[in-house]
Amino acid sequence: MQGFMNWIDERFPLTKVWNEHLAEYYAPKNFNFWYYFGSLAMLVLVIQIISGIFLTMHYKPDEAMAFASVEYIMRDVPGGWFIRYMHSTGASAFFIVVYLHMFRGLIYGSYKGKRELVWLIGMTIYLALMAEAFMGYLLPWGQMSFWGAQVIINLFNTVPVVGAELSTWIRGDYVIADATLNRLFALHVAAVPLVLVALVFVHIVALHVVGSNNPDGVEIKKLKNDKGIPLDGIPFHPYYSVKDIVGVGVFLLVFFAIVFFAPEMGGYFLEHANFEPANSLKTPEHIAPVWYFTPFYTVLRAVTVSPFAGTVAMFLAIIFLFLLPWIDKNPIKSWRYRNTAHTINLLLFAAVFMVLGYLGVKPVTPELKELGTRMTEIYFIFFIVLWVHNTPSKAKYLMWFIILAGVIGLMDFIRYNPEATDDAQQIAWQWIFPIGYLALTLLLPMVKRFNDEKLVPERVTS
Ligand code: HEM
Repeated sequence: MQGFMNWIDERFPLTKVWNEHLAEYYAPKNFNFWYYFGSLAMLVLVIQIISGIFLTMHYKPDEAMAFASVEYIMRDVPGGWFIRYMHSTGASAFFIVVYLHMFRGLIYGSYKGKRELVWLIGMTIYLALMAEAFMGYLLPWGQMSFWGAQVIINLFNTVPVVGAELSTWIRGDYVIADATLNRLFALHVAAVPLVLVALVFVHIVALHVVGSNNPDGVEIKKLKNDKGIPLDGIPFHPYYSVKDIVGVGVFLLVFFAIVFFAPEMGGYFLEHANFEPANSLKTPEHIAPVWYFTPFYTVLRAVTVSPFAGTVAMFLAIIFLFLLPWIDKNPIKSWRYRNTAHTINLLLFAAVFMVLGYLGVKPVTPELKELGTRMTEIYFIFFIVLWVHNTPSKAKYLMWFIILAGVIGLMDFIRYNPEATDDAQQIAWQWIFPIGYLALTLLLPMVKRFNDEKLVPERVTS
């Protein structure tokens, strides 16, 4: 065996790579539940690629045959239903895992301490993942594939001057048609997966240069023994490779329970309207993107000044996430040691993101539309509040409360319609949401108990 390894090592640095990234990669010894999701995201990527390859063997990227070929996979191809449900459930599982992975980054400040690039690459992966999911959703050529793609590609129409040409160029036709299906198929099965795999590789390489963060936000490389090994580090393999296997086991149990017993997940993983073939003459009653896009879809619908402004707001909502390392400059990484107001801020942000998601799958009513606007306000104000919390001891909380509450009031004034119906009057009370949010994150820390930061320990705690 050793002889064989020597033979390989003289031609390819296998042992070196194994040691640098696994057996001698020292990871903090206090990883917890939140650290399962990186390896799980890699697992889902593999599931998607393998199930995708098998689907491609039977799928027909042709306007006239696409829908029927998916039905053929479901009914006639041996095990076809299993492969297809793995792929469709995998898409939702990917986003669940990635959202939890991103939230971990937020609560432990994992984008700090020279990890900005890890975060930026992660965000680029997230964008590529959204593009991949969008393109894949067109392929079954069902009603929601067709009309969802119509809505999204029409967003490019809102770009001033070149909008119409741009969306025609993207579609390859004046309407969503065979040309669109063909190009999105090519991008979905070949181009974007390659980009995703390359980005994940770069993500891990960048992380291993700096080293992992941890739930305490302590830099373990600062304290090393005489052999240069971090005092709080343990080799990734076997310690975390074994820990991750437990995560994989639990994940697969849940994943296959969904694949076998609830693959449509009540219409959230596979929308009911998509079981009908695409029909360009019949718009579905209610067009909603799949759940993982809906937080941003609600932002799009909330900004009604102009269609272009809505599109810009939607992209800004993502761009702000990219900028997190430069917005949150508080030197303390983990929420364990930051003030209570910061913890409240993060929890409220997560809640608002989920409400935005929920609103995106619901048909618009005046109440829900207003709620979408209020949640969008909080979504964007979160980043300003996060920035205000950079220096809690010197922060001018009251001043920022007045400024931000004033901005909300001003926007309400601009939006105010004197001819409003009773409906609109009834929903005016919803100003309580953004103002309540500001009170909890900017007035509460004026009480010392909610503003005190804790001393970050030198060594990791548990
Ligand atoms: C296909 C998608 C992704 C894969 C396969 C992936 C994989 C990984 C892996 C294996 C790790 C190390 C283990 C761990 O910390 O859990 C990691 C760490 C990290 N990832 Fe990702 N990732 C993905 C997407 C993202 C996204 C979308 C973001 C954020 C925008 C992100 C940000 C981070 C950060 C900040 C770390 C360092 C965490 C720390 O050290 O505390 N990743 N990723």
